[in-house]
Amino acid sequence: MNLPFPLGFPAPTAFYLTLYILTFALHQAFMHYVLAGSLYVAWTTSFPGRDSVSRNDQPIAATLRDWLPFLLSAAITAGVAPLLFIQIVYQKQFYTANLLLWWRWMLVVPILIIAFYLLYLLKSKIMAHWPHIARSLVAISTAACFVFVGFCWTANHLLSVSEARWPEVYVTGQLPFTPFEVLARMGIWISDSFATLAAILAWQLYRRQSDRSADIVGPATRNLAVMALGGLGLLTLAGLTYILTAADKTRDSLFDSGTLPYLIISVVGVAMQVAGWFQQWRFGRLTGLWSTVVSTGSVLTLLAMSFAREAIRAGVLDMPQLFQRHADAAKVGGFTVFLIFTVLVSAAIAWCFVTVHRGLKVQPPVA
Ligand code: HEM
Repeated sequence: MNLPFPLGFPAPTAFYLTLYILTFALHQAFMHYVLAGSLYVAWTTSFPGRDSVSRNDQPIAATLRDWLPFLLSAAITAGVAPLLFIQIVYQKQFYTANLLLWWRWMLVVPILIIAFYLLYLLKSKIMAHWPHIARSLVAISTAACFVFVGFCWTANHLLSVSEARWPEVYVTGQLPFTPFEVLARMGIWISDSFATLAAILAWQLYRRQSDRSADIVGPATRNLAVMALGGLGLLTLAGLTYILTAADKTRDSLFDSGTLPYLIISVVGVAMQVAGWFQQWRFGRLTGLWSTVVSTGSVLTLLAMSFAREAIRAGVLDMPQLFQRHADAAKVGGFTVFLIFTVLVSAAIAWCFVTVHRGLKVQPPVA
């Protein structure tokens, strides 16, 4: 029986892979908020409903508009750490895929800058006076920017593990995947992102629940439950589609005894989220206990899926060929500097957070 991934690898490889996976899981949590949050705002802006309080002014959409710019900067900042480690672990694969993606990869940064400004526009009071069609266009374009960035990362990942197809892409400039291959993988990200979003929003709304009446708290709780349970249902479907349509080598790595514990933990994480949301739906409000169960389940799912994702890549690539590079990198040093800057940057972010929080106490937000 194999040791759980990545313990079977030499120490430097296991060390860099573990750091890569842990930092990637953090990027994922923030990125999920941005991806699902912007899609939700696009929906509420385009279809505000006929209730007395429009969907777009209800607590979920209002909280999202308020927090999305901050969470986008968190997603980008948290993306830097796995970016550093992926360069050590899979240098050739990662950079070759970047180069082959060419203009699509070059668009990622400009698109993110545009999306950043659009998020501020969505949050601003100016937009409230614009016609419905213009507001919908802004919200849909913002979400489309994030879906496009997610697509680029997925295409980059798929290309990086398809070395045999690199010459063909170099000659034709065309991506060698069917839309189905890309969509099946993106389906996993997008569906799980709604469950993660609901888990984070639960805490954001729980804090201010006591200030609101039952006819606001009840529907908000149920909307979050629908968002999470819908996301988890689609995740199960997307996961099964991925397993059924995967190449034999990918499926073998997925069910290898080193990867199986992570699959089991993912299922446990999903089950905890389902139980937590059913209970809160029943109570018609968010509770500290069940929100904790939901967030623990969500963290387990994110971590286990990240380990499983990596175990699959390691099963497809020729890993022994990379060991020497990892051993050389481990001798170079710099890890202490990395840790010092991690602490400094985290402290700076926490300081910004506390400053804004203090400011909001003096002048509470309108929503
Ligand atoms: C909000 C914008 C972003 C979205 C929606 C997004 C989405 C994604 C998705 C969906 C993946 C997984 C791809 C897959 O396995 O199929 C991913 C991976 C990753 N992202 Fe992001 N991302 C964003 C911004 C960034 C930024 C700005 C950085 C870097 C500073 C970054 C760094 C990474 C890294 C290093 C990976 C792992 C790549 C790999 O293992 O192949 N992301 N991102």
